[in-house]
Amino acid sequence: MKERRVVSDERPPPAETLISEKELGARIQELAAEISAHYSDSVPILVSVLKGSALFLADLARAIERSIEIDFMSISSYQSAGAQSGVVKIVKDLESDISGRDVLIVEDIVDTGLTLNYLRRTLEEREPASLRAVTLLDKAARRIVPVPLEWSGFEIPDVFVVGYGLDFQGRYRNLPELLAIKDLARLANEPLLLVPSLFEEG
Ligand code: PRP
Repeated sequence: MKERRVVSDERPPPAETLISEKELGARIQELAAEISAHYSDSVPILVSVLKGSALFLADLARAIERSIEIDFMSISSYQSAGAQSGVVKIVKDLESDISGRDVLIVEDIVDTGLTLNYLRRTLEEREPASLRAVTLLDKAARRIVPVPLEWSGFEIPDVFVVGYGLDFQGRYRNLPELLAIKDLARLANEPLLLVPSLFEEG
């Protein structure tokens, strides 16, 4: 697929490709090879944190040449506790018993680190045999809590990104590549701004 450059008028484009579909695919193959080698004698449970990581999980899982299991969790922050409190609640818990199992948390992005920190603490209490994490994107400059990350696809700058699972107001998750939003204020004002240049609607 050609790289997208979203142009709507004479103003600078509000978004541009940060990581292409091809680059994402190549890096995911590399991560899958490392993960496959690491779990050479066990059947790990991949834990996908909804919703953003679903696309990464689907591609990563298919590139792992080993027997694996998959489970899902959904968590949300307590807004009243403040966005940076790290206080979250489990909206949907795992169905698997992870005690004694090798567990790999699959995230699309680690930003402040609060979510992954909470997940690691919560899942560690269930006494897995091992607990590791893979993230496609690492926005390291935004970290508030240092948190171990065994595998990371790309370190990205502190820009707002959409696509490949990441959303703006629920939209744009289905883009096959990652876009950097150059004009977030404009998008906030007009959330569907990018739709006509990205999708054929109607
Ligand atoms: C994103 C991402 C991580 C979290 C990382 O989820 O999937 O779970 O934010 O941020 P942090 O490091 O600052 O805690 P989001 O809350 O956007 O939900 P979504 O995946 O359903 O879009």
